[in-house]
Amino acid sequence: MGRILITSALPYINGIKHLGNLVGSQLPSDVYARFARARGHEVLFICATDEHGTPAELAAAKAGEAVADYCARMWQVQKDIADGFRLSFDHFGRSSSSRNHHLTQHFAGRLADAGLIEEVSEKQVYSKADGRFLPDRYIEGTCPNCGYERARGDQCENCTKQLDPTDLINPRSAISGSTDLEVRETGHLYLRQSQLRDRLREWIDSKTDWPILTTSIAKKWLDDGDGLQDRGITRDLDWGIPVKKGDADWPGMEGKVFYVWFDAPIEYIAASAEWADATGQGDAAWERWWRTDKGADDVRYVQFMGKDNVPFHTLSFPATVLGSGEDWKLVDYIKSFNYLNYDGGKFSTSEGRGVFMDQALDILPSDYWRWWLMANVPESSDSNFTWEAFQAGVNKDLADVLGNFVSRVTKFARSRFEEKVPDTGEYGPDEQALIEDLTRRLKAYETHMEAIDLRKGAQELRGIWAAGNEYLQAAAPWALFKTDPDRAGAIVRFSLNLVRFYAVLSQPFIPDASRAMLDAFDGEDFAWPEDVSAALSSLTPGSAFTTPEVLFAKITDDAREEFSTRFAGTA
Ligand code: 2FM
Ligand code: ZN
Repeated sequence: MGRILITSALPYINGIKHLGNLVGSQLPSDVYARFARARGHEVLFICATDEHGTPAELAAAKAGEAVADYCARMWQVQKDIADGFRLSFDHFGRSSSSRNHHLTQHFAGRLADAGLIEEVSEKQVYSKADGRFLPDRYIEGTCPNCGYERARGDQCENCTKQLDPTDLINPRSAISGSTDLEVRETGHLYLRQSQLRDRLREWIDSKTDWPILTTSIAKKWLDDGDGLQDRGITRDLDWGIPVKKGDADWPGMEGKVFYVWFDAPIEYIAASAEWADATGQGDAAWERWWRTDKGADDVRYVQFMGKDNVPFHTLSFPATVLGSGEDWKLVDYIKSFNYLNYDGGKFSTSEGRGVFMDQALDILPSDYWRWWLMANVPESSDSNFTWEAFQAGVNKDLADVLGNFVSRVTKFARSRFEEKVPDTGEYGPDEQALIEDLTRRLKAYETHMEAIDLRKGAQELRGIWAAGNEYLQAAAPWALFKTDPDRAGAIVRFSLNLVRFYAVLSQPFIPDASRAMLDAFDGEDFAWPEDVSAALSSLTPGSAFTTPEVLFAKITDDAREEFSTRFAGTA
């Protein structure tokens, strides 16, 4: 068994994410992490909030909060929702952590030493009252061309003349109105990622097993050259990681912060260090996952993300890592996803269209969402959420197949066998046939899950549930009970073993229901079945069990219609 490092793309701090965001990285990464752990791998599963950049500043301003307070509050909100969805991160960090400050500054210093950072000088207007540079639309003044008094730094609305901020007469800050302004030469840093083109190409070309979606996006940007243009990695914003060269000040960069996309992926590493800190371990604990000179060579590193994030993870972040010249772990496999649409259109925060993560948990348990979203995960193309499809999928797979199976066998065993695993009768040809069928299916399930083919994995799991349901239906112990109680006992014993088997296999997708199924059998754990025949004889005959509550209630037509109206949005 090996070691697997798993990261989910970091959700932006501003606001609660919708189901389309969830299905594009956090949820599939969790399903895979749970599967990998269940198979006995040592897993480190990391996520965090992505807290910097203009969106965070604007959202905080809108909420009337200091940006640091806003981020702290929203981190907790997102963490609670992640817990509600049973996302089993080993650590849910924050890109604003001091670990990330240090590491980001460290990388910048290494890149500078390697000659991969260029300092570019630009003239900009600085406001002393605001304590910041004023990019074009943050400055107003009198138009030198027509005298209009409210011209903006980039253009005069009145005469349409294009302007530079320094052209304006009587300029003032559009933020505070202050006229205490001056023109300053200001520097910005550019990451010379074009220098790394050949190394990146060689690296990407070596990844022949990556999903087509990932490699096609990576190669498009690599070949266009556009994705590898040198990029500005600094910004004139208040909130962010101060630009430093390692621990040292960076002359000319005072008051500037790193661009959010420079520091966010570094947080994957920093969050692992935060994890070590939070669990009272030393640096060696996280470095063995990330430093190839400290044992990370035998780690398999898998990243999950939506397709819009692929260029940053295949080009910019690897450029940072490679360019540092240090022994950092590079990603081994990038699992990317298409988009989930809502009822044929886009999810929309501003229009309140679609289901957001907090709302989802308010109306139904997380397993319902987890199951449907993963059974319909947008792997090979975009997929579409409709309430009809959701209702049909949940009612059929979870209620009619799995839930019904568990409920029938446990209730029958309670009424006829005193809530004990029957100890009469032997397994016969029907059980043997199902064992053989399930052995094949289990192999297929494992293969799909190992390949992170999650939709196929969900399909196979559904088939495994259905096979048991069909067996029970045909074996009909309730009909045999009077004439051949021993045989009925064997069927019930086999079926109770199936419940336990299902609990273990289903745990990556529906952890709460799995827990409830497993809890029916005292003292049993989630050990993965190595051998189906042995697994289906694992319950001790004569041992007691408890009948679980109804696992899944059906979604009624009334509820479906009400939800559909409630989440339709304002447009
Ligand atoms: O697209 C997004 O939601 C970004 N916040 C993802 C960042 S992933 C990583 F690089 F941090
Ligand atoms: Zn004008």
